[in-house]
Amino acid sequence: MIQLERISKWHMQGGRPVFILKDINMTVAEGEFISIMGPSGSGKSTLLNVIGMLDVPNEGGYNFMGNDVFKMKEKQRSALYKHHIGFVFQAYHLIDELTVYENIETPLLYQDVKGSERKAIVADMLDKFQIVGKKDLFPSQLSGGQQQLVGIARALIAKPKLLLADEPTGNLNSKQGEEIMGLFKELNNEGVTIIQVTHSEKNAEYGSRIINLLDGRIQM
Ligand SMILES: Nc1ncnc2c1ncn2[C@@H]1O[C@H](COP(=O)(O)OP(=O)(O)O)[C@@H](O)[C@H]1O
Ligand SMILES: [Mg+2]
Repeated sequence: MIQLERISKWHMQGGRPVFILKDINMTVAEGEFISIMGPSGSGKSTLLNVIGMLDVPNEGGYNFMGNDVFKMKEKQRSALYKHHIGFVFQAYHLIDELTVYENIETPLLYQDVKGSERKAIVADMLDKFQIVGKKDLFPSQLSGGQQQLVGIARALIAKPKLLLADEPTGNLNSKQGEEIMGLFKELNNEGVTIIQVTHSEKNAEYGSRIINLLDGRIQM
């Protein structure tokens, strides 16, 4: 599903390159559940953003489901993302001007799902995440944990083939965290490929493979 080839990303500092990612080679088969671990600043979020087509490296190649991602036109790449990828952001990235309901609904609008069907799908998701009572509130009216749940619901609403999650349980209490990990496990059993960034050994064990990053490199 995913082939990253010699991905490097750097910025210049005092005339020298400072590497954020260095020579990353990574292959992910459909159906895998991978955990990316590593200390703060090791490049985990940057790597996930590259895989999620939200960031572009300075060097390297990326093939996603047979598409040469860096050679595609922006419009095609965006369509590929919208159809196949769900992203849970570390800092939620909810749209402040939209209600909980509207935030969760957004990916379905991109996919041209019809109105009545949309309503039913969003209602199901609100129910599943036990946030029906919050549906007309705005993100600023929610706690961090609640915003995170909304972010996860939004990432899952359009049934992505690939779920990318940057510390998805970071702001949840341990019970909510376990429920989300259980949900990820279920989704993975149904065939969704998952790549999560986590600091938690316990969460990492829900996956089938761990990739350790240190100073922008994969540790063997
Ligand atoms: N656009 C940028 N310009 C300069 N430095 C950056 C940029 N983005 C990230 N970094 C640096 O790259 C390193 C890796 O960041 P990040 O991927 O967020 O790490 P992690 O998620 O593992 O904590 C950090 O040292 C960060 O400060
Ligand atoms: Mg990070």
